Amino acid sequence: MSFPPTYSMYPLLASGTGTRYVTGKRSGDFGLTAEAAAEQVREQAPNIVFLCTPNNPTGTALSLDVVEAVYEAGAASRAIVIVDEAYGEFFHAGTPSALQLLPGRERLIVSRTMSKAFALAGARVGYMAAAPEVTDALRLVRLPYHLSAITQATANAALEHADALLANVEAIKVQRDRIVSELLGLGLKPAPSDANFVFFGGLENPRAVWEGLLEAGVLVRDVGIPGHLRVTAGTESETSAFLGRLRELLAAGVR
Ligand SMILES: Cc1ncc(COP(=O)(O)O)c(C=O)c1O
Repeated sequence: MSFPPTYSMYPLLASGTGTRYVTGKRSGDFGLTAEAAAEQVREQAPNIVFLCTPNNPTGTALSLDVVEAVYEAGAASRAIVIVDEAYGEFFHAGTPSALQLLPGRERLIVSRTMSKAFALAGARVGYMAAAPEVTDALRLVRLPYHLSAITQATANAALEHADALLANVEAIKVQRDRIVSELLGLGLKPAPSDANFVFFGGLENPRAVWEGLLEAGVLVRDVGIPGHLRVTAGTESETSAFLGRLRELLAAGVR
């Protein structure tokens, strides 16, 4: 079970493993409250729940009370709750990771990846934190050929140089927050973002805006949600190029 719009691989992974995939509903602004999430988990009684925070594609973070409520609600179906923090390094300062909920919650898993903040998607390294019972069980079912020795060496080297590799994170967060506040000023509707991208609505013709941006060399993402686009925060000058072109398009009536 997960709560769309969310990471598009969850249903694909479910179908690839012959697993029934059920979806919960978010509120109109893509939010998810503890009560609403828990009620839906009780109704569906899933075996696995994916909670993506910050959520792809909306960028919104879940408060820990949502994770706690889903965990409690999943007790009856012994649900494993996987909190996907792929974008966790981009949380606003003070937004807590679900890692702190792990003690005493043997059905909880927190997963992360080196693909985003470490800019190491090509290495294909992810990792998780969970109770030893869960990690031991995973060792039994993982594929027999594990991460290559080269991949493991790359990950170890990346961890040794984490400060250097994560140095851009703070700069990207500044641009992310700048995009949100400038889009609000332009009368658009950005979702609050704790990720390295901003999902925004208020568009009548996202296709035309997408094309207009592309003509200026700015590639954003149409994630197929009506009236919305998603833009990734880049360097200061890349962000300026995006905002400048968007202002031109809006002034020309392309919206
Ligand atoms: C929310 C989320 N989780 C997990 C992943 C998977 O990352 P990777 O397979 O590159 O480690 C992604 C990649 O886009 C993602 O957006």
